[in-house]
Amino acid sequence: LWRDVPQGADDPILGLNQAFVADASPDKVSLVVGAYRDAHGKPVVLRAVRAAEERIVAAALPKEYTPIAGMAEFVRAAIALMLGDNSSALTEGRIAAVQTLSGTGACRVAADLLARFPSPDAEPAAAKLIYVPEPTWSNHWAIFHDAGLTVRGYRYWDGDSLGLDEDGLLEDLRAAPRGATLLLHACAHNPTGVDPTSAQWARIADVVEERALRVLFDSAYQGFASGDPERDAAAVRLFVERGHPIMLAQSFAKNFGLYGERVGALSVVTASVAEASTVLSQLKLVIRPMYSSPPLHGARIVAQVLGDPALKQLWLEDCAGMAARIAQMRSALRTELESLQPGRSWAHMSSQIGMFCFSGLRPEEVDALREQYHLYLTRDGRISMASVNPGNVRHVAQAITEVMAT
Ligand code: LMR
Repeated sequence: LWRDVPQGADDPILGLNQAFVADASPDKVSLVVGAYRDAHGKPVVLRAVRAAEERIVAAALPKEYTPIAGMAEFVRAAIALMLGDNSSALTEGRIAAVQTLSGTGACRVAADLLARFPSPDAEPAAAKLIYVPEPTWSNHWAIFHDAGLTVRGYRYWDGDSLGLDEDGLLEDLRAAPRGATLLLHACAHNPTGVDPTSAQWARIADVVEERALRVLFDSAYQGFASGDPERDAAAVRLFVERGHPIMLAQSFAKNFGLYGERVGALSVVTASVAEASTVLSQLKLVIRPMYSSPPLHGARIVAQVLGDPALKQLWLEDCAGMAARIAQMRSALRTELESLQPGRSWAHMSSQIGMFCFSGLRPEEVDALREQYHLYLTRDGRISMASVNPGNVRHVAQAITEVMAT
């Protein structure tokens, strides 16, 4: 009955990690998945998360279904974290928002909404069109495509300057049909680690307004870029303050270390309370047949932490600590590489931000790292800096240097 089913391709990130798990070498190192590790390479559960869990267990709460839109207290806390408690969109009740299965689930629910309800002002060519940065997180292409959208890239990375291709980006957005959707990474762009400056964000917002684009912000790293979640919210806040009705996908996998709990939120900023109510009704119609309602535990943890000043403070300290350890590893790896490769600059390694370094390594070099040194990274040359530590930094630098020399 299933003989016609072809073998599917492995996921470029999670599939590669499976290959790492299967590798028997004692020297293996995985710099594949964006998941935080401590200085000894071990996964971390944040102190505030542990404390919130203890409180939740002690309260012996029931395990009833969540509503289709999820846990209201969590959803409100998620929006306030990004927009600020005093955001007029929030206080005026103009946001339709739901809890989702982490950031992936938020993007998928957003995609289904976009596929069902193109912008009323869209040119026909824009109706189901979404632009994503080149490059972007590999799953973005699949998420939007599977929801029936046409996915097109816009220029983002400049391989010569190892920075943002601002001219290319603005040119591509100006050429977009009116009413298309634009995906932007809120901060700590994955995979490049290159974010626009505030002046560049303002110029992007100008073109978004000119072309009446819908914007979907994907926020997976709030707190990881600068170590301060408020600062990392600046781009999203700029758009909302300028009156742009953005959509926002939030993940709490990285900044709360809640990877496997699948905690996220999708918010749609609208023009009025009435619009928010109709959009929310449609979000629920997307969710109910898809997975009925979201899981409870992780949302309770985030709501508990963000709702309690002492726990929130503990979380802010841990978040800043994770960002600082990654920044230290950026400079440690850069120093090792520059000492092994006199005359070559690895400055981009320390100027990029967030969990990843977009190294510039070529796919053949990445393959050689895996085959000869049991060092795993995605074929686009992305290094998960969260897995670099004092115990492996020299080995990583040596392996990179040797494959580049051959
Ligand atoms: C990554 O980019 O490595 C993470 O976002 C994990 C994932 O789901 O791909």
